[in-house]
Amino acid sequence: MKKLLICNHKMFLTYDEAIILKNKMNDINFDDINLVVCPSYLNFDVFKDYTLGAQNCFYEDKGAYTGEISCYDLNLRKIKYSIVGHSDRRKYETNEEINLKVKSLLKNSMTPILCIGETKMDKELRRTSEVLKKQLYSALDGVVLDKSQELVIAYEPVWAIGTGNNLSKEQIEDTLMYLRKLLDLKEIHNYKLLYGGSVNKSNINFILNDIVDGYLLGNASINDDELKYITKCIK
Ligand code: 13P
Repeated sequence: MKKLLICNHKMFLTYDEAIILKNKMNDINFDDINLVVCPSYLNFDVFKDYTLGAQNCFYEDKGAYTGEISCYDLNLRKIKYSIVGHSDRRKYETNEEINLKVKSLLKNSMTPILCIGETKMDKELRRTSEVLKKQLYSALDGVVLDKSQELVIAYEPVWAIGTGNNLSKEQIEDTLMYLRKLLDLKEIHNYKLLYGGSVNKSNINFILNDIVDGYLLGNASINDDELKYITKCIK
């Protein structure tokens, strides 16, 4: 199966910088992977040749919610994915809100890219399994997938994001096996499991693993050299 590669541009690129990146990406062959680009809302049009994802969304369809963008509206604009629960945002939202966003995405024919991951402190206190279970189950509370619906779940240890630290292949494998078990128990079968957190060209060959359905990139996704190399490795 083709690997899924999700590029989270965060707030890294201005419009002009996005155009420069897109021009360089034109030289990369993405044929044998499934690429999803999550630019800032202002840069969607620059990357319209690719499958697009939002970096965030809101669960109400319409209303007086200044500054928010609804799943309803994203779907009308043919945006098929949205990140939800990213650690950059978890500090501003509750598990209940994340759950509402997951449900709204599914209701609006979109695929949630649900991010979960432990902090450095969770890891030091050896409560990673408990934290992941809580984040996963609270986000999926009351979620029943029909045959046409899919989830993407990205395991991103917070301490690995943007730090250059990353897990070993074995640690990724163990955690993803654990997540598969948790999903099985909830009878959720239609999903892809990704790994994210400082994935780059110097470590991709060490963490490549059949158990991983794909990768969620941050910094490496705005560097065409990194992107080209990673794409070649995961084909
Ligand atoms: P980095 O690849 O920069 O560590 O970011 C990962 C991430 O947060 C993707 O969502």
